[in-house]
Amino acid sequence: MSRTTTVPPCRICGGGLQEFFDFGKQPMANAYRTPGEPGEAFTFRLAGGICDRCTTVQLLEEAPHDRMFHGGYPYRSSGSSVMRSHFEQLADTFLATELDRPDPFIVELGSNDGIMLRKIAAAGVRHLGVEPCDDLAETGRRNGIRVCNEFFDEELGKRIREEDGPADVVFAANTFSHISFLDSVLRGIDALLAPHGVFVFEDPYFGDIVRKTSFDQIYDEHIFFFTVRSVKYMAAAHGFELVDAERLPVHGGEIRYTLARPGTRAVQPSVRTLLAEEEKAGLADPATLRRFSDDVRRVCTDLVSLLRALREDGRTVVGYGATAKSATLLNLCGIGPELLSYVCDTTPAKQGRLTPGTGIPIRSPRAFTEEFPDYALLLAWNHAEEIKSKESAFVASGGRWIEYVPDVRISAT
Ligand code: SAM
Ligand code: TMP
Ligand code: ZN
Repeated sequence: MSRTTTVPPCRICGGGLQEFFDFGKQPMANAYRTPGEPGEAFTFRLAGGICDRCTTVQLLEEAPHDRMFHGGYPYRSSGSSVMRSHFEQLADTFLATELDRPDPFIVELGSNDGIMLRKIAAAGVRHLGVEPCDDLAETGRRNGIRVCNEFFDEELGKRIREEDGPADVVFAANTFSHISFLDSVLRGIDALLAPHGVFVFEDPYFGDIVRKTSFDQIYDEHIFFFTVRSVKYMAAAHGFELVDAERLPVHGGEIRYTLARPGTRAVQPSVRTLLAEEEKAGLADPATLRRFSDDVRRVCTDLVSLLRALREDGRTVVGYGATAKSATLLNLCGIGPELLSYVCDTTPAKQGRLTPGTGIPIRSPRAFTEEFPDYALLLAWNHAEEIKSKESAFVASGGRWIEYVPDVRISAT
């Protein structure tokens, strides 16, 4: 366990939080600065704990919500072809199941550029995306979806219900765990959802984070790290029942949770199976959490030693993918431009800027393909398959990937 400081109560149940990691002062993960830009960047203590009552893992301090999600928020969901087909498949499933009744209605929280809802819109089904970032809301509209450009909360849930009627599905991907005021969000969902409706959300799974030591999933936007056990508790505390939990391979390992009004749906066997697995893995045990903290330290030490050795040997090393999670890795390990010459990324809004806190220049992937480096640190490891197949010429020409999840290693495939 790291040092004890005054900790706030659990945001879900008011219980006590036991701190088990402290990654020190960190910038906001999407605060890409322009070279020479003046002004102090916002930092906060990136530390987290587990609730001794409901077992929800969460950050102790948080960045202001409207400072994270605003007009300049750079994340574009459709930047990954794997994610595009992931959400297209889900849209098809919704259309064939929950949305097969007369005049169905689906609401998505965090609709981003419309990656999921565009297929629903194309099928002519009533829908609404809720997206607080105005340029993303605009992109969503251009992609054919109807968008409400606001933060979802209790008040908005009630307003949508009044204006559009009850929703058959409320969906949120990689968004629910980003919102600190979940009590208000859940009251809003309660107001909005039809009696037979479902609230479906998918977020990184804490079980995968521990198993893979993927500590870079922990950054300002990820406030909660759910398990089946903690979601079951949260659902019950807010008048819902956890009826399904499906593991997903995307984003380094996620779970898609389905909540319904109690007694309206059969609870799927996966809930019990995953609860038993979590118990066996000791996901809420102090010893497991201590081991996780030790593993994080080991990965950081190994990675920095390797990068220093390669540099001393005169090798060129760059980063691949200016992911939000790489902010945690780079700042925690103290990796700057002296160890990684640049990081390449397909997102135009990130190119020409610097990585938050560590000041590494971000360049277009063209810089990478024009002159392959000797080594590339795969920061976007959750998109490994897609990137490695796209960049197969890199390895063919003698380049090597450096990976760090779950362990630091050099790979030629
Ligand atoms: N759902 C997309 C996906 O899975 O790729 C986008 C995920 S992105 C990491 C999080 C999204 O949630 C952002 O587009 C952000 O603007 C949105 N968001 C943040 N707070 C929100 C809130 N209170 N209500 C609705 N959307 C919110
Ligand atoms: P994510 O891990 O939050 O999905 O972010 C992935 C980042 O990696 C995003 O900034 C885009 C970038 N990226 C590339 O540069 N090339 C790629 O092929 C993919 C899939 C992502
Ligand atoms: Zn709690």
